[in-house]
Amino acid sequence: MDLHILDHRLRVTSISKNGLANFTHPLIKLIFLRNRTRCKFFSLTETPENYTVVLDEEGFKELQPSEHLQVEGSIWLPLNVVSNGNASSSSQAVGVTKIAKSVIAPLAEQHVSVFMLSTYQTDFILVREQDLSVVISTLEEEFHMFREVAGESMPVQCQDVSNGLHKNGKEAMLTVHPVLIPQNQFCVMSLDPDTLPSIATTLIDVLFYSSSPKEEAQSNQDLDTINFFSFSLIDGYISLVMDTEAQRRFPADLLFTSSSGELWRMVRIGGQPLGFDECGIVAQISRPLADSDVSAYYISTFSFDHALVPEEDIAGVRDMLHHQRKEQSS
Ligand code: ARG
Repeated sequence: MDLHILDHRLRVTSISKNGLANFTHPLIKLIFLRNRTRCKFFSLTETPENYTVVLDEEGFKELQPSEHLQVEGSIWLPLNVVSNGNASSSSQAVGVTKIAKSVIAPLAEQHVSVFMLSTYQTDFILVREQDLSVVISTLEEEFHMFREVAGESMPVQCQDVSNGLHKNGKEAMLTVHPVLIPQNQFCVMSLDPDTLPSIATTLIDVLFYSSSPKEEAQSNQDLDTINFFSFSLIDGYISLVMDTEAQRRFPADLLFTSSSGELWRMVRIGGQPLGFDECGIVAQISRPLADSDVSAYYISTFSFDHALVPEEDIAGVRDMLHHQRKEQSS
């Protein structure tokens, strides 16, 4: 298997709910006017708390400093696993489940904090630039590693920081965070970038005007669902994660999903905002999912983490999480 360190230097930011109006101009440019920006990695996720924007330095330049904009201090680099087609594993599972044991667990054991971004196309594992040498020496046994530089993949030189590694590192005894399982059903979809203009008005409506007073009243009645919508445009590929209610607002023929067309349920991880330094949060959720071969997408946002699992697996996942939490408190 190959692991690529992509040529994007990313910032993780959040825009406050009240501050969105101050940022619609740059966001519309980043989403719809691709030829006006050199941004190649852009992701916007709305949650009840805020809007998380993950974007490269070119895109970041578009965002003016503001009291409404919070910026995590580090540069993050996206890693991406490319399986070279030798189906050595019998698993049909998709998403983070495939990389839980080979990437996520070893990084957690070395106390490397990650920030996950699953999309329709692939799963990006963001790591801090300053952790890169530990990341490389942790993963180079398992993977052929490449670093992308100006569109070319260069093999990564062997590292010798092995004495900096935590020998047979165990995940430090972890905080088990509270979880929430909202009732909405989600779909993970894509769209041909050339047809983006056809859904522009709907997308603008959903992204920027979704909390009109009318709908706020509606959604307040419905405390069991969560307001979650994610759009990303990364290296020319679009990915959308939305609940079935939002999906109904889009023209039915333009968005596509995998042939099985499955629906997903969400597990939100975190009671208090999770911050960026703690490691092992993703590992703690994805490892048991991998053990039981349950597919999962995983989207970190500025405040919380979100795992998506197939609808038919949510009961089992709820039991697993419940068990994990009981064990912690006993
Ligand atoms: N750093 C966590 C981990 O390594 C995942 C990200 C949690 N933080 C957040 N703001 N979403 O497992």
